[in-house]
Amino acid sequence: MKKTILALDVYDFQKAERLVKETSPYIDVYKIGPILFLQAGKEIVKMIKDNGKEVFLDLKFHDIPATVKRSVESARELGVFSLTVHSIGGEEMLKAAASVENRPKIWAVTVLTSQITMPEEVLRRAKLTKTCGIDGVISSPLEISLIKKECGKEFNVVTPGIRLAKTNDDQKRVATPETAIKEGADFIVIGRPILEAENPIEVAKNIYERTLL
Ligand code: C5P
Repeated sequence: MKKTILALDVYDFQKAERLVKETSPYIDVYKIGPILFLQAGKEIVKMIKDNGKEVFLDLKFHDIPATVKRSVESARELGVFSLTVHSIGGEEMLKAAASVENRPKIWAVTVLTSQITMPEEVLRRAKLTKTCGIDGVISSPLEISLIKKECGKEFNVVTPGIRLAKTNDDQKRVATPETAIKEGADFIVIGRPILEAENPIEVAKNIYERTLL
């Protein structure tokens, strides 16, 4: 599977569909977050799957265990490839999410990449989620090798905070695509560097080539 996940942080279905069709040679998994899911929900999942691609549903579930468990069951019915829960939901919530049968992959958010934190805190949360049966974490590129070393190669590390060059936006803990892959990321999540580019297809192609290591 290709390593770049495109974050479809756009408001409308047509724009999302155009992006999926144009970037499909370089991307296998598309991320849907609240921005698009609240607009187009099920139709957008269907459109991505009809194009032969997979969906990463990034709604960062953080609620009481019973609600999170049922949310994971609903996501399973949608046929998504992966979804996120928030690690601060705690042990009982994480275990409830992981207990769903035939479920999508679950990745737990450690600490948002827009927040400054210590690697030890990210690692503490990664270890907790692993013991609860979660498949991997969302972390910044700066913690990949530490998590892989402590939690093992099979434990997925998925990293947003990917930047092609220095920027001044809200992401604080960042790295380039090739650095994140070299460090061992299973997937990198990229939004604005592609979405806001003059030529999104060229940028998606460039990132794809830079991650063929
Ligand atoms: O535009 P940008 O490349 O910063 O997009 C990153 C995407 O990853 C956004 O959709 C954001 O919601 C998501 N994300 C993140 N940090 C996390 C989890 C998800 O930036 N810890």
